[in-house]
Amino acid sequence: MSVSVTLTSTVPAGADVTALGVCSDQVDSEPHDLDWGLLRGLGFEGKAGQVQLVAGPDGRPVAAVGMGPAADVTPAVIRRSSAALARGVRRHRWLGSSLLDTVADGDDLAAAAQAHAEGILLGAYGYDAYKSDPEPNSLRKLSVVGAGREVRDALRLGTAVAGAVCFARDLVNEPGGSLTPEKLAAAAQAMASGEDGTDGAALEIQVSERDEIVEAGLGGLLGVNRGSTQPPRFVEITWRPPADPEGFLALVGKGITFDSGGLSIKPATGMETMKIDMSGAAAVLGAMRVVKVLAPPIRVTGYIPITDNMLGGDASRPGDILTIRNGKTVEVLNTDAEGRLILADALSLASEARPDAIVDLATLTGACVVALGTKVAGLMGNHDGWIDAVEAAADRAGERVWHLPLPADYRKQLDSPVADLKNIGNRWGGTLTAALFLQEFVAEGIPWAHLDIAGPAWTDSVDGEAAKGGTGFGVRLLVDLIRNFSPPDGGSPGV
Ligand code: BES
Ligand code: MN
Ligand code: ZN
Repeated sequence: MSVSVTLTSTVPAGADVTALGVCSDQVDSEPHDLDWGLLRGLGFEGKAGQVQLVAGPDGRPVAAVGMGPAADVTPAVIRRSSAALARGVRRHRWLGSSLLDTVADGDDLAAAAQAHAEGILLGAYGYDAYKSDPEPNSLRKLSVVGAGREVRDALRLGTAVAGAVCFARDLVNEPGGSLTPEKLAAAAQAMASGEDGTDGAALEIQVSERDEIVEAGLGGLLGVNRGSTQPPRFVEITWRPPADPEGFLALVGKGITFDSGGLSIKPATGMETMKIDMSGAAAVLGAMRVVKVLAPPIRVTGYIPITDNMLGGDASRPGDILTIRNGKTVEVLNTDAEGRLILADALSLASEARPDAIVDLATLTGACVVALGTKVAGLMGNHDGWIDAVEAAADRAGERVWHLPLPADYRKQLDSPVADLKNIGNRWGGTLTAALFLQEFVAEGIPWAHLDIAGPAWTDSVDGEAAKGGTGFGVRLLVDLIRNFSPPDGGSPGV
Protein backbone atom coordinates (compact mmCIF):
# COMPACT_ATOMS: atom_id res chain seq x y z
CA MET A 1 0.00 0.00 0.00
CA SER A 2 1.44 3.38 -0.86
CA VAL A 3 1.67 6.65 1.00
CA SER A 4 0.90 9.86 -0.90
CA VAL A 5 3.19 12.76 -0.15
CA THR A 6 2.26 16.44 -0.38
CA LEU A 7 3.81 19.76 0.56
CA THR A 8 1.84 22.03 2.86
CA SER A 9 2.43 25.40 4.53
CA THR A 10 1.13 24.33 7.95
CA VAL A 11 0.15 20.99 9.49
CA PRO A 12 -3.32 20.26 8.04
CA ALA A 13 -6.20 20.32 10.54
CA GLY A 14 -7.28 16.87 9.39
CA ALA A 15 -3.97 15.12 10.11
CA ASP A 16 -4.27 12.29 12.64
CA VAL A 17 -0.81 12.77 14.08
CA THR A 18 1.81 15.50 13.94
CA ALA A 19 5.57 14.87 13.91
CA LEU A 20 7.92 17.34 15.59
CA GLY A 21 11.69 17.01 15.29
CA VAL A 22 13.69 17.35 18.51
CA CYS A 23 17.48 17.63 18.55
CA SER A 24 19.25 16.02 21.50
CA ASP A 25 21.11 19.19 22.41
CA GLN A 26 17.88 21.18 22.50
CA VAL A 27 15.98 18.93 24.88
CA ASP A 28 16.99 21.10 27.86
CA SER A 29 15.21 24.10 26.38
CA GLU A 30 12.03 21.96 26.15
CA PRO A 31 11.17 22.85 22.54
CA HIS A 32 7.66 22.77 21.09
CA ASP A 33 4.56 22.78 23.26
CA LEU A 34 5.06 19.26 24.64
CA ASP A 35 4.64 17.52 27.99
CA TRP A 36 8.36 17.34 28.77
CA GLY A 37 7.83 15.79 32.18
CA LEU A 38 6.13 12.85 30.52
CA LEU A 39 8.60 12.68 27.61
CA ARG A 40 11.58 12.59 30.00
CA GLY A 41 9.82 10.00 32.12
CA LEU A 42 9.44 7.84 29.00
CA GLY A 43 13.18 8.12 28.36
CA PHE A 44 12.96 10.44 25.36
CA GLU A 45 16.26 12.30 24.93
CA GLY A 46 16.07 13.40 21.30
CA LYS A 47 18.52 10.73 20.20
CA ALA A 48 18.49 10.05 16.47
CA GLY A 49 15.83 7.48 15.68
CA GLN A 50 13.93 7.81 18.99
CA VAL A 51 10.21 8.27 18.44
CA GLN A 52 7.73 8.87 21.23
CA LEU A 53 4.00 9.35 20.79
CA VAL A 54 2.37 11.68 23.34
CA ALA A 55 -0.80 13.74 23.52
CA GLY A 56 -0.30 17.26 22.17
CA PRO A 57 -1.71 20.47 23.70
CA ASP A 58 -5.09 19.89 22.03
CA GLY A 59 -5.15 16.25 23.09
CA ARG A 60 -4.36 14.95 19.62
CA PRO A 61 -1.34 12.66 19.14
CA VAL A 62 2.08 14.13 18.52
CA ALA A 63 5.16 12.14 17.64
CA ALA A 64 8.35 13.55 19.13
CA VAL A 65 11.14 12.48 16.75
CA GLY A 66 14.72 12.44 17.99
CA MET A 67 17.17 13.89 15.48
CA GLY A 68 20.42 13.69 17.46
CA PRO A 69 22.73 16.73 17.76
CA ALA A 70 21.49 19.73 15.74
CA ALA A 71 24.82 20.03 13.94
CA ASP A 72 24.53 16.45 12.63
CA VAL A 73 21.09 16.56 11.02
CA THR A 74 22.23 15.14 7.68
CA PRO A 75 19.99 13.63 5.01
CA ALA A 76 21.05 10.17 6.26
CA VAL A 77 19.89 11.04 9.80
CA ILE A 78 16.63 12.44 8.46
CA ARG A 79 16.05 9.28 6.39
CA ARG A 80 16.63 6.98 9.35
CA SER A 81 14.60 9.07 11.80
CA SER A 82 11.78 9.35 9.29
CA ALA A 83 11.71 5.57 8.90
CA ALA A 84 11.51 5.18 12.68
CA LEU A 85 8.72 7.77 12.65
CA ALA A 86 6.78 5.87 9.99
CA ARG A 87 7.01 2.71 12.08
CA GLY A 88 5.93 4.64 15.19
CA VAL A 89 2.81 6.12 13.57
CA ARG A 90 1.79 3.13 11.46
CA ARG A 91 -1.60 2.95 13.20
CA HIS A 92 -2.49 6.44 11.99
CA ARG A 93 -3.66 7.29 8.50
CA TRP A 94 -2.55 10.85 7.94
CA LEU A 95 0.77 12.21 9.20
CA GLY A 96 1.58 15.92 9.24
CA SER A 97 5.31 16.45 9.59
CA SER A 98 7.34 19.47 10.68
CA LEU A 99 10.59 17.50 10.62
CA LEU A 100 12.22 19.74 8.02
CA ASP A 101 12.29 22.48 10.69
CA THR A 102 15.37 20.77 12.09
CA VAL A 103 17.40 21.38 8.90
CA ALA A 104 19.99 24.07 9.63
CA ASP A 105 19.99 27.27 7.59
CA GLY A 106 22.39 26.86 4.71
CA ASP A 107 22.00 23.07 4.57
CA ASP A 108 20.64 21.44 1.43
CA LEU A 109 16.90 21.57 2.05
CA ALA A 110 16.09 19.65 -1.14
CA ALA A 111 18.33 16.74 -0.12
CA ALA A 112 16.69 16.80 3.31
CA ALA A 113 13.18 16.76 1.85
CA GLN A 114 14.06 13.90 -0.50
CA ALA A 115 15.50 11.93 2.42
CA HIS A 116 12.40 12.66 4.53
CA ALA A 117 10.04 11.28 1.88
CA GLU A 118 12.31 8.28 1.31
CA GLY A 119 12.53 7.53 5.02
CA ILE A 120 8.79 7.66 5.61
CA LEU A 121 7.97 5.47 2.62
CA LEU A 122 10.76 2.98 3.32
CA GLY A 123 9.87 2.80 7.01
CA ALA A 124 6.28 2.04 6.06
CA TYR A 125 7.42 -0.88 3.87
CA GLY A 126 6.62 -4.43 4.87
CA TYR A 127 6.62 -7.63 2.83
CA ASP A 128 3.42 -9.41 3.69
CA ALA A 129 2.42 -11.00 0.39
CA TYR A 130 2.30 -14.41 2.07
CA LYS A 131 1.05 -13.41 5.57
CA SER A 132 -2.49 -14.42 6.53
CA ASP A 133 -2.53 -11.84 9.27
CA PRO A 134 -0.14 -9.04 8.32
CA GLU A 135 0.79 -6.39 10.84
CA PRO A 136 -1.62 -3.52 10.15
CA ASN A 137 -0.18 -0.42 8.56
CA SER A 138 -2.66 2.40 8.16
CA LEU A 139 -0.34 5.18 6.99
CA ARG A 140 -1.61 6.53 3.65
CA LYS A 141 -0.86 10.22 3.61
CA LEU A 142 2.11 12.41 4.50
CA SER A 143 1.84 16.20 4.53
CA VAL A 144 5.26 17.81 4.86
CA VAL A 145 5.39 21.34 6.20
CA GLY A 146 7.61 23.44 3.97
CA ALA A 147 7.63 25.69 0.96
CA GLY A 148 9.07 26.19 -2.47
CA ARG A 149 9.37 24.44 -5.75
CA GLU A 150 12.69 22.85 -4.88
CA VAL A 151 11.24 21.16 -1.83
CA ARG A 152 8.18 20.04 -3.78
CA ASP A 153 10.34 18.51 -6.53
CA ALA A 154 12.57 16.85 -3.93
CA LEU A 155 9.56 15.27 -2.24
CA ARG A 156 8.46 14.00 -5.62
CA LEU A 157 11.88 12.55 -6.34
CA GLY A 158 12.08 10.96 -2.90
CA THR A 159 8.66 9.41 -3.44
CA ALA A 160 9.72 7.96 -6.80
CA VAL A 161 13.00 6.66 -5.40
CA ALA A 162 11.34 5.03 -2.40
CA GLY A 163 8.70 3.48 -4.65
CA ALA A 164 11.50 1.98 -6.72
CA VAL A 165 13.35 0.71 -3.64
CA CYS A 166 10.13 -0.99 -2.49
CA PHE A 167 9.70 -2.46 -5.98
CA ALA A 168 13.24 -3.87 -5.76
CA ARG A 169 12.60 -5.18 -2.23
CA ASP A 170 9.43 -6.96 -3.36
CA LEU A 171 11.37 -8.68 -6.14
CA VAL A 172 14.16 -9.70 -3.76
CA ASN A 173 11.74 -10.92 -1.10
CA GLU A 174 9.74 -13.09 -3.47
CA PRO A 175 10.84 -16.72 -3.00
CA GLY A 176 13.16 -18.29 -5.55
CA GLY A 177 10.66 -20.98 -6.44
CA SER A 178 8.10 -18.38 -7.32
CA LEU A 179 10.19 -15.63 -8.93
CA THR A 180 11.44 -17.69 -11.88
CA PRO A 181 13.63 -16.07 -14.54
CA GLU A 182 10.55 -15.82 -16.73
CA LYS A 183 8.67 -13.96 -14.00
CA LEU A 184 11.50 -11.59 -13.23
CA ALA A 185 11.74 -10.74 -16.92
CA ALA A 186 7.95 -10.27 -17.06
CA ALA A 187 8.13 -7.89 -14.09
CA ALA A 188 10.79 -5.90 -15.96
CA GLN A 189 8.58 -5.79 -19.03
CA ALA A 190 5.51 -4.67 -17.09
CA MET A 191 7.52 -1.93 -15.40
CA ALA A 192 9.12 -0.76 -18.67
CA SER A 193 5.82 -0.54 -20.52
CA GLY A 194 3.95 0.93 -17.56
CA GLU A 195 1.30 -1.79 -17.67
CA ASP A 196 1.90 -2.41 -13.96
CA GLY A 197 0.83 1.18 -13.27
CA THR A 198 4.36 2.59 -13.02
CA ASP A 199 4.50 6.31 -13.80
CA GLY A 200 6.48 7.96 -16.53
CA ALA A 201 7.69 7.36 -20.05
CA ALA A 202 7.85 3.87 -21.49
CA LEU A 203 11.29 2.29 -21.77
CA GLU A 204 12.60 0.17 -24.63
CA ILE A 205 12.95 -3.40 -23.52
CA GLN A 206 14.19 -6.57 -25.15
CA VAL A 207 13.70 -9.87 -23.39
CA SER A 208 15.77 -12.63 -24.96
CA GLU A 209 14.63 -16.21 -24.51
CA ARG A 210 16.76 -19.32 -24.64
CA ASP A 211 17.08 -19.55 -28.46
CA GLU A 212 18.19 -15.96 -28.74
CA ILE A 213 20.60 -16.44 -25.85
CA VAL A 214 22.14 -19.39 -27.72
CA GLU A 215 22.23 -17.30 -30.88
CA ALA A 216 23.97 -14.46 -29.00
CA GLY A 217 26.61 -16.85 -27.64
CA LEU A 218 25.99 -16.14 -23.97
CA GLY A 219 27.92 -19.23 -22.87
CA GLY A 220 28.22 -18.18 -19.24
CA LEU A 221 24.49 -17.74 -18.80
CA LEU A 222 23.78 -21.02 -20.61
CA GLY A 223 26.39 -22.88 -18.58
CA VAL A 224 24.87 -21.78 -15.28
CA ASN A 225 21.38 -22.54 -16.56
CA ARG A 226 22.19 -26.15 -17.52
CA GLY A 227 21.15 -27.58 -14.17
CA SER A 228 17.78 -25.87 -14.18
CA THR A 229 14.33 -26.80 -15.42
CA GLN A 230 13.61 -23.07 -15.81
CA PRO A 231 14.74 -21.39 -19.03
CA PRO A 232 17.05 -18.36 -18.73
CA ARG A 233 16.28 -14.81 -19.80
CA PHE A 234 18.41 -11.86 -20.80
CA VAL A 235 16.86 -8.43 -20.35
CA GLU A 236 18.12 -5.29 -22.03
CA ILE A 237 16.22 -2.19 -20.96
CA THR A 238 16.92 1.29 -22.31
CA TRP A 239 16.03 4.91 -21.76
CA ARG A 240 16.87 7.20 -24.67
CA PRO A 241 16.32 10.93 -24.19
CA PRO A 242 14.36 12.74 -26.89
CA ALA A 243 17.33 14.98 -27.77
CA ASP A 244 20.90 13.89 -28.54
CA PRO A 245 22.13 12.09 -25.40
CA GLU A 246 24.73 13.88 -23.29
CA GLY A 247 26.23 10.55 -22.33
CA PHE A 248 25.62 6.82 -22.13
CA LEU A 249 25.68 4.87 -18.89
CA ALA A 250 25.41 1.07 -18.80
CA LEU A 251 24.07 -0.69 -15.71
CA VAL A 252 24.63 -4.41 -15.20
CA GLY A 253 22.84 -6.47 -12.53
CA LYS A 254 23.31 -10.08 -11.41
CA GLY A 255 20.00 -11.90 -11.77
CA ILE A 256 20.40 -15.31 -10.11
CA THR A 257 16.84 -16.00 -8.94
CA PHE A 258 18.11 -18.73 -6.63
CA ASP A 259 21.65 -19.88 -5.93
CA SER A 260 21.92 -23.46 -4.69
CA GLY A 261 25.59 -23.48 -5.63
CA GLY A 262 24.97 -26.06 -8.36
CA LEU A 263 26.97 -29.29 -8.10
CA SER A 264 29.41 -27.42 -5.82
CA ILE A 265 26.37 -27.28 -3.59
CA LYS A 266 26.08 -24.86 -0.69
CA PRO A 267 25.52 -26.06 2.88
CA ALA A 268 21.89 -25.77 3.98
CA THR A 269 22.34 -22.62 6.03
CA GLY A 270 24.26 -20.88 3.25
CA MET A 271 21.33 -21.51 0.94
CA GLU A 272 18.58 -20.15 3.18
CA THR A 273 18.74 -16.60 1.88
CA MET A 274 19.83 -17.33 -1.68
CA LYS A 275 16.64 -15.97 -3.19
CA ILE A 276 18.41 -12.61 -2.76
CA ASP A 277 20.93 -13.44 -5.47
CA MET A 278 19.07 -11.30 -7.99
CA SER A 279 19.45 -8.16 -5.86
CA GLY A 280 21.77 -6.56 -8.43
CA ALA A 281 19.13 -7.08 -11.10
CA ALA A 282 16.48 -5.66 -8.78
CA ALA A 283 18.60 -2.56 -8.13
CA VAL A 284 19.06 -1.94 -11.85
CA LEU A 285 15.34 -2.39 -12.49
CA GLY A 286 14.54 -0.08 -9.57
CA ALA A 287 16.83 2.60 -10.97
CA MET A 288 15.24 2.24 -14.43
CA ARG A 289 11.85 2.70 -12.81
CA VAL A 290 12.97 6.11 -11.53
CA VAL A 291 14.54 6.94 -14.89
CA LYS A 292 11.04 6.78 -16.38
CA VAL A 293 10.01 9.82 -14.36
CA LEU A 294 13.41 11.54 -14.26
CA ALA A 295 13.81 11.51 -18.05
CA PRO A 296 17.53 12.28 -17.78
CA PRO A 297 19.41 13.78 -20.76
CA ILE A 298 21.59 10.67 -21.04
CA ARG A 299 21.05 7.20 -22.46
CA VAL A 300 20.84 4.53 -19.77
CA THR A 301 20.78 0.82 -20.60
CA GLY A 302 20.41 -2.01 -18.10
CA TYR A 303 21.86 -5.44 -18.97
CA ILE A 304 20.38 -8.19 -16.84
CA PRO A 305 21.27 -11.89 -17.22
CA ILE A 306 18.75 -14.09 -15.41
CA THR A 307 18.78 -17.75 -14.39
CA ASP A 308 18.73 -19.82 -11.25
CA ASN A 309 21.75 -21.95 -10.30
CA MET A 310 20.51 -25.50 -9.82
CA LEU A 311 21.90 -29.02 -9.95
CA GLY A 312 19.73 -31.04 -12.30
CA GLY A 313 21.07 -34.02 -14.21
CA ASP A 314 22.64 -31.90 -16.91
CA ALA A 315 24.15 -29.30 -14.58
CA SER A 316 27.60 -27.89 -15.37
CA ARG A 317 30.29 -30.10 -13.92
CA PRO A 318 33.42 -28.80 -12.26
CA GLY A 319 36.02 -28.85 -15.04
CA ASP A 320 33.55 -27.89 -17.78
CA ILE A 321 34.69 -25.11 -20.08
CA LEU A 322 32.39 -22.32 -21.20
CA THR A 323 32.86 -19.79 -23.98
CA ILE A 324 31.70 -16.33 -22.98
CA ARG A 325 30.16 -13.80 -25.38
CA ASN A 326 33.50 -12.03 -25.93
CA GLY A 327 35.18 -15.27 -26.98
CA LYS A 328 37.16 -15.95 -23.82
CA THR A 329 36.98 -19.48 -22.41
CA VAL A 330 36.44 -20.23 -18.72
CA GLU A 331 37.16 -23.43 -16.83
CA VAL A 332 34.40 -23.77 -14.24
CA LEU A 333 36.07 -25.27 -11.19
CA ASN A 334 33.38 -24.24 -8.74
CA THR A 335 29.80 -24.06 -9.95
CA ASP A 336 28.98 -21.82 -6.97
CA ALA A 337 31.07 -19.04 -8.51
CA GLU A 338 28.24 -18.58 -11.02
CA GLY A 339 27.55 -14.87 -10.74
CA ARG A 340 30.77 -13.94 -12.51
CA LEU A 341 29.89 -16.33 -15.38
CA ILE A 342 26.59 -14.66 -16.20
CA LEU A 343 28.05 -11.18 -15.59
CA ALA A 344 30.87 -11.99 -18.01
CA ASP A 345 28.33 -12.26 -20.82
CA ALA A 346 26.49 -9.14 -19.68
CA LEU A 347 29.68 -7.06 -19.38
CA SER A 348 30.77 -8.25 -22.84
CA LEU A 349 27.45 -7.16 -24.32
CA ALA A 350 27.50 -3.85 -22.47
CA SER A 351 31.04 -3.23 -23.73
CA GLU A 352 29.97 -3.83 -27.34
CA ALA A 353 27.56 -0.90 -27.06
CA ARG A 354 30.56 1.36 -26.14
CA PRO A 355 28.98 3.22 -23.20
CA ASP A 356 30.84 6.09 -21.53
CA ALA A 357 30.91 4.06 -18.32
CA ILE A 358 29.66 0.81 -16.82
CA VAL A 359 28.62 0.02 -13.26
CA ASP A 360 27.65 -3.48 -12.21
CA LEU A 361 25.92 -4.62 -9.02
CA ALA A 362 26.11 -8.18 -7.79
CA THR A 363 25.69 -10.26 -4.65
CA LEU A 364 28.97 -11.77 -5.74
CA THR A 365 31.06 -13.07 -2.85
CA GLY A 366 30.65 -14.22 0.73
CA ALA A 367 34.22 -12.94 1.14
CA CYS A 368 32.93 -9.38 0.78
CA VAL A 369 30.57 -9.95 3.71
CA VAL A 370 33.51 -11.26 5.74
CA ALA A 371 35.57 -8.19 4.81
CA LEU A 372 33.02 -5.40 5.15
CA GLY A 373 30.10 -6.87 7.06
CA THR A 374 26.44 -6.63 6.17
CA LYS A 375 26.05 -2.87 5.78
CA VAL A 376 28.82 -1.86 3.39
CA ALA A 377 29.28 -2.79 -0.25
CA GLY A 378 32.69 -3.39 -1.84
CA LEU A 379 33.57 -1.01 -4.67
CA MET A 380 36.20 -1.86 -7.26
CA GLY A 381 36.96 -0.74 -10.78
CA ASN A 382 39.41 0.14 -13.52
CA HIS A 383 39.15 3.94 -13.47
CA ASP A 384 39.78 6.16 -10.45
CA GLY A 385 37.60 9.05 -11.62
CA TRP A 386 34.64 6.78 -12.20
CA ILE A 387 35.15 5.00 -8.88
CA ASP A 388 35.17 8.42 -7.18
CA ALA A 389 31.91 9.31 -8.94
CA VAL A 390 30.26 6.10 -7.70
CA GLU A 391 31.56 6.73 -4.20
CA ALA A 392 30.23 10.30 -4.21
CA ALA A 393 26.82 9.12 -5.43
CA ALA A 394 26.70 6.49 -2.68
CA ASP A 395 27.60 9.12 -0.07
CA ARG A 396 24.87 11.48 -1.20
CA ALA A 397 22.34 8.64 -1.38
CA GLY A 398 23.19 7.37 2.10
CA GLU A 399 24.32 3.92 0.91
CA ARG A 400 27.70 2.84 2.21
CA VAL A 401 30.46 1.57 -0.07
CA TRP A 402 34.18 1.02 0.45
CA HIS A 403 36.84 1.13 -2.23
CA LEU A 404 38.89 -2.07 -2.45
CA PRO A 405 41.90 -2.64 -4.72
CA LEU A 406 42.23 -4.74 -7.85
CA PRO A 407 45.82 -5.99 -7.41
CA ALA A 408 47.08 -6.79 -10.91
CA ASP A 409 49.39 -9.55 -9.64
CA TYR A 410 46.41 -11.48 -8.22
CA ARG A 411 45.19 -12.02 -11.76
CA LYS A 412 47.49 -15.02 -12.17
CA GLN A 413 45.37 -16.89 -9.61
CA LEU A 414 42.80 -17.11 -12.38
CA ASP A 415 45.18 -18.77 -14.86
CA SER A 416 43.86 -22.12 -16.08
CA PRO A 417 45.92 -24.91 -17.62
CA VAL A 418 43.18 -25.65 -20.14
CA ALA A 419 41.22 -22.43 -20.76
CA ASP A 420 41.80 -18.67 -20.87
CA LEU A 421 40.91 -18.41 -17.20
CA LYS A 422 39.26 -20.32 -14.40
CA ASN A 423 36.37 -19.07 -12.33
CA ILE A 424 37.97 -19.16 -8.85
CA GLY A 425 41.18 -17.91 -7.29
CA ASN A 426 42.90 -19.20 -4.16
CA ARG A 427 41.38 -19.15 -0.71
CA TRP A 428 42.12 -15.49 0.07
CA GLY A 429 40.81 -12.19 -1.19
CA GLY A 430 37.88 -13.79 -3.01
CA THR A 431 36.16 -10.44 -3.53
CA LEU A 432 39.16 -9.10 -5.41
CA THR A 433 39.70 -12.16 -7.60
CA ALA A 434 36.00 -12.15 -8.47
CA ALA A 435 36.31 -8.53 -9.60
CA LEU A 436 39.53 -9.30 -11.50
CA PHE A 437 37.58 -12.03 -13.28
CA LEU A 438 34.85 -9.55 -14.26
CA GLN A 439 37.44 -7.08 -15.53
CA GLU A 440 38.42 -9.58 -18.24
CA PHE A 441 35.06 -8.97 -19.88
CA VAL A 442 35.08 -5.18 -19.87
CA ALA A 443 36.47 -3.88 -23.15
CA GLU A 444 39.69 -1.87 -23.02
CA GLY A 445 39.18 1.84 -22.38
CA ILE A 446 35.69 1.70 -20.85
CA PRO A 447 35.53 3.04 -17.28
CA TRP A 448 33.95 0.32 -15.17
CA ALA A 449 32.98 0.07 -11.50
CA HIS A 450 31.86 -3.05 -9.69
CA LEU A 451 29.75 -3.10 -6.52
CA ASP A 452 29.78 -6.32 -4.52
CA ILE A 453 26.51 -5.98 -2.59
CA ALA A 454 26.47 -9.46 -1.00
CA GLY A 455 26.38 -7.88 2.48
CA PRO A 456 23.96 -4.94 2.27
CA ALA A 457 21.43 -6.56 -0.10
CA TRP A 458 19.79 -8.23 2.86
CA THR A 459 19.21 -7.61 6.56
CA ASP A 460 17.79 -9.88 9.25
CA SER A 461 16.84 -7.00 11.54
CA VAL A 462 14.95 -3.74 11.16
CA ASP A 463 17.66 -1.11 10.83
CA GLY A 464 17.12 2.56 9.95
CA GLU A 465 15.26 2.69 6.65
CA ALA A 466 15.66 -1.07 6.09
CA ALA A 467 12.99 -3.64 6.93
CA LYS A 468 13.80 -7.31 7.48
CA GLY A 469 14.64 -9.01 4.19
CA GLY A 470 15.74 -7.47 0.92
CA THR A 471 16.94 -3.88 1.33
CA GLY A 472 16.80 -2.65 -2.26
CA PHE A 473 20.42 -1.57 -1.82
CA GLY A 474 21.82 0.19 -4.87
CA VAL A 475 18.66 1.83 -6.20
CA ARG A 476 19.36 5.10 -4.41
CA LEU A 477 22.99 5.31 -5.38
CA LEU A 478 22.23 4.46 -9.02
CA VAL A 479 19.57 7.16 -9.21
CA ASP A 480 22.04 9.69 -7.82
CA LEU A 481 24.73 8.48 -10.22
CA ILE A 482 22.36 8.90 -13.17
CA ARG A 483 21.26 12.38 -12.07
CA ASN A 484 24.86 13.55 -11.75
CA PHE A 485 26.33 11.61 -14.65
CA SER A 486 28.95 13.09 -16.90
CA PRO A 487 31.17 10.86 -19.02
CA PRO A 488 34.41 10.18 -17.11
CA ASP A 489 37.56 11.02 -19.05
CA GLY A 490 39.30 8.10 -20.69
CA GLY A 491 42.56 6.64 -19.50
CA SER A 492 43.62 6.77 -15.85
CA PRO A 493 43.56 3.11 -14.87
CA GLY A 494 42.97 2.23 -11.21
CA VAL A 495 45.24 0.23 -8.89
N1 BES B 1 25.68 -15.61 -4.31
C1 BES B 1 26.91 -16.02 -3.75
C2 BES B 1 27.56 -14.97 -2.86
C3 BES B 1 26.84 -14.59 -1.61
C4 BES B 1 27.18 -15.17 -0.40
C5 BES B 1 25.87 -13.61 -1.60
C6 BES B 1 26.54 -14.79 0.76
C7 BES B 1 25.22 -13.23 -0.45
C8 BES B 1 25.57 -13.81 0.74
C9 BES B 1 27.91 -16.37 -4.86
O1 BES B 1 27.35 -16.88 -6.02
C10 BES B 1 28.82 -17.40 -4.31
O2 BES B 1 28.35 -18.46 -4.03
N2 BES B 1 30.09 -17.08 -4.21
C11 BES B 1 31.06 -18.01 -3.71
C12 BES B 1 32.30 -17.88 -4.56
C13 BES B 1 33.33 -18.94 -4.29
C14 BES B 1 32.81 -20.31 -4.71
C15 BES B 1 34.58 -18.61 -5.04
C16 BES B 1 31.35 -17.65 -2.26
O3 BES B 1 31.38 -16.47 -1.93
O4 BES B 1 31.50 -18.57 -1.46
MN1 MN C 1 27.10 -18.97 -5.91
ZN1 ZN D 1 25.42 -16.35 -6.41
